[in-house]
Amino acid sequence: MACDAPLTIALSKGRIFTETLPLLAHAGIRPLDDPETSRKLILDTNQPQVKLVIIRASDVPTYVQYGAADLGVAGKDVLLEHGGEGLYEPLDLRIARCRMMVAGIPEAALTAGGGRLRIATKYVKCAERHFAAKGQQVEIIKLYGSMELAPLVGLADLIVDLVESGNTLKANGLVPLEHIAPISSRLVVNKAAWKMKHAAVMALLGALREAVAQGQAIQHA
Ligand code: PRP
Repeated sequence: MACDAPLTIALSKGRIFTETLPLLAHAGIRPLDDPETSRKLILDTNQPQVKLVIIRASDVPTYVQYGAADLGVAGKDVLLEHGGEGLYEPLDLRIARCRMMVAGIPEAALTAGGGRLRIATKYVKCAERHFAAKGQQVEIIKLYGSMELAPLVGLADLIVDLVESGNTLKANGLVPLEHIAPISSRLVVNKAAWKMKHAAVMALLGALREAVAQGQAIQHA
């Protein structure tokens, strides 16, 4: 893909970056630095018009929404919390796949007798929506990590968190209780960039779509 318009792509370090790299390579885009070893936040690529900005996963939708990046790769969990305002979400990249679940100790009740269940999570909006849809009033306790600890020390009755292998739950004596949503990383595009840089965005989208389809073909071969 040869790119005419300048494009800035927002990515987070770690798994999303590692798993997005082969997809970008399929589109002919290769970063000139490794964010794991470099402290640079803006990475040049082999394509002079394409730059990568390296930010926290939960900030990706905000950078794209405000046009500080034209595109980004964000987990569906982050997008559900952000709300998706100002963004198109044209492609499921099928990477960083897991599930958003309600979990707790094995004998945990999913409804409180008279009072409200306390739910610890960093996914406040997702948890609110999930329990509201069931007609349940709950008290949400916002945490920033290690949600699995909360039911063990009496901070909460249940947690809402991401589950991939289930090993973290198991290691802490917890079990998955309810499925909320399947999660994977999505390509998000700023709505203005979608219009103003249409050809460049479409070329990148097409190449990424092809890379995802080929990845699927390999997985199912
Ligand atoms: C995530 C999630 C769980 C764990 C689930 O945490 O919050 O703790 O992975 O994975 P598993 O089912 O394969 O054990 P992560 O390590 O990404 O860190 P975080 O708590 O900072 O999100």
